[in-house]
Amino acid sequence: MSNDPYSLATEAAAVLRRRTGVDDFDVALVMGSGWVPAADAIGETVAEIPVTDLPGFAAPAVAGHAGKVRAVRTSSGRHSLIFLGRTHLYEGRGVEPVVHNIRTAAATGVRVVVLTNAAGGLRPETQRVGEPILISDHINMTGANPLTGSTFLDLTHVYAPRLRALAREVDPTLAEGVYVAFRGPTYETPAEIRMLRTLGGDMIGMSTVLEAIAAREAGAEVLGVSLVTNPAAGLVGEPLNHEEVLAVGRATATRMGDLLGQVVDKL
Ligand code: HPA
Repeated sequence: MSNDPYSLATEAAAVLRRRTGVDDFDVALVMGSGWVPAADAIGETVAEIPVTDLPGFAAPAVAGHAGKVRAVRTSSGRHSLIFLGRTHLYEGRGVEPVVHNIRTAAATGVRVVVLTNAAGGLRPETQRVGEPILISDHINMTGANPLTGSTFLDLTHVYAPRLRALAREVDPTLAEGVYVAFRGPTYETPAEIRMLRTLGGDMIGMSTVLEAIAAREAGAEVLGVSLVTNPAAGLVGEPLNHEEVLAVGRATATRMGDLLGQVVDKL
């Protein structure tokens, strides 16, 4: 196995092509906590592989993160790669494993990446539990970046306006917001949530931003969708827990799956 992350992604892509029998994929979807049950609505499963069979992927550390990659053919004939689970920065493995899914997808030909996550809502419009919100932009508070050296990548339009417009054709009621990522694994303090609201954040989570940067580096377009699973810490006085985050996902899986399925069909 290679030490260079880009070569490692090329190796993983070669195994994926061999195991799925698909040479070129069109779109990759990363299913965050709560989104996994939505995957079934996207199309017909061609193959499903544990990510640990692919070079560079580690076993998932978090309950509800399945750790599989599924090749799916959509009704419009698109080849999709669905990552059921992801690696998070808080697992302590560093930045490269967090974006290995995206680099592998890019090495299989993917030009569109759909990133989903579970998030806390920071404002009244983004606090309706069970609602999907389109990510319009992000604030990366993880202190990490998947790029090193003098790669001065432009991030003016990380989340493609074209793809957001397409999602709104499917569901005109979708709100948009700025997603803030902290490293985790702790949830935020109420004082941090007040700070993030002042800074212009609308949703808070622990993923997505590093993958979005890696996708832009690879030249792929990005669509980001947050599923609001709770009002952010301190906003309603209730403590937060991971079980609640997963339960919201289970309860809303059909709606999320239909939304993603229809968006992918329009690509
Ligand atoms: N904070 C951080 N991550 C999250 C939250 C939250 O409130 N809800 C779901 N993921």
